[in-house]
Amino acid sequence: MAVLMKGKHITSILDLSTEEINQILKVAETLKLERMQRIPHPILAGRNLAMIFEKPSTRTRISFEVGINQLGGSALYLSSKDMQLGRGETIADTAKVLSRYVDCIMARVFSHNTIKELAENATVPVINGLSDYEHPCQVLADVFTMYEKFGELKGLKLAYIGDGNNMANSLLYVCAKLGMHMSVASPGGYMPKDEVLAEANKIAAKTGSKLTVGTDPIEAVKGAHAVYTDVWISMGDEAEKEERLAKFQPFQVNSKLMQHVDPDAIVLHCLPAHRGEEITNEVIDGPQSAVWDEAENRLHVQKAIMTLITR
Ligand code: CP
Ligand code: NVA
Repeated sequence: MAVLMKGKHITSILDLSTEEINQILKVAETLKLERMQRIPHPILAGRNLAMIFEKPSTRTRISFEVGINQLGGSALYLSSKDMQLGRGETIADTAKVLSRYVDCIMARVFSHNTIKELAENATVPVINGLSDYEHPCQVLADVFTMYEKFGELKGLKLAYIGDGNNMANSLLYVCAKLGMHMSVASPGGYMPKDEVLAEANKIAAKTGSKLTVGTDPIEAVKGAHAVYTDVWISMGDEAEKEERLAKFQPFQVNSKLMQHVDPDAIVLHCLPAHRGEEITNEVIDGPQSAVWDEAENRLHVQKAIMTLITR
């Protein structure tokens, strides 16, 4: 059944129902197939997307910009430093003004509250392009990549090795929503927050998803269909670099850990990778790596998101 999503904000995976997530994945599949056949799809002709960036980006910026172009619309890259936002204009006022010019806003921000404030004040849909708390667009591309490799998502297991950060949070939420199982292995002190686990477990209880958190990467990867990792030092965590590099060392995804991984499982990483830190060259460039498909899928999934929520 089709679900109407026009005007919807996507600040968090929690904003989406299971049906809405499945719909995004279906539309992404159609758009990807059409693109492969060079079938034009100018669904958002004449629409404009504002992209606000407080942090750097390669994939998010390019896939959103190329994506809206392929849909017949156009994007504006707005560095927060170059906007009046950087000189103290409020987030609320910025959201109200942008809503008079553009049809959709995507923002990459330090504080998740900034995304929430944008959404509360904008009259056009707001998309979280990464905050300190979540990265919903990325995990939708991740589960789409798993869907392409394995078909049915319900019952699949994803093992997340590393920092209990924004990626881990969004992955916990999306796995819970889709009835997928997830095992997290993180060093003590870097596990996902209790409030995130509590929320994810509440959803999991309804969908049959099993979520576990521990400190043993070998235990976590057992029976996993996908092994996922992310940088140990996220944007904004640079001051903790030395401490983190030391604590995360046993959580590297390397060929030794891969000996415990099912040969049919895939390896995912949201990128950018710090090769030699959280993942080694032989794994990211190895036969089980699906990271380039995963990166490409950002484009198809975000096109689906924009198609579904832009009026
Ligand atoms: N994965 C991701 O969001 O990459 P960028 O930081 O390059 O946008
Ligand atoms: N956790 C990383 C993800 C980058 C896409 C960060 O926030 O920097």
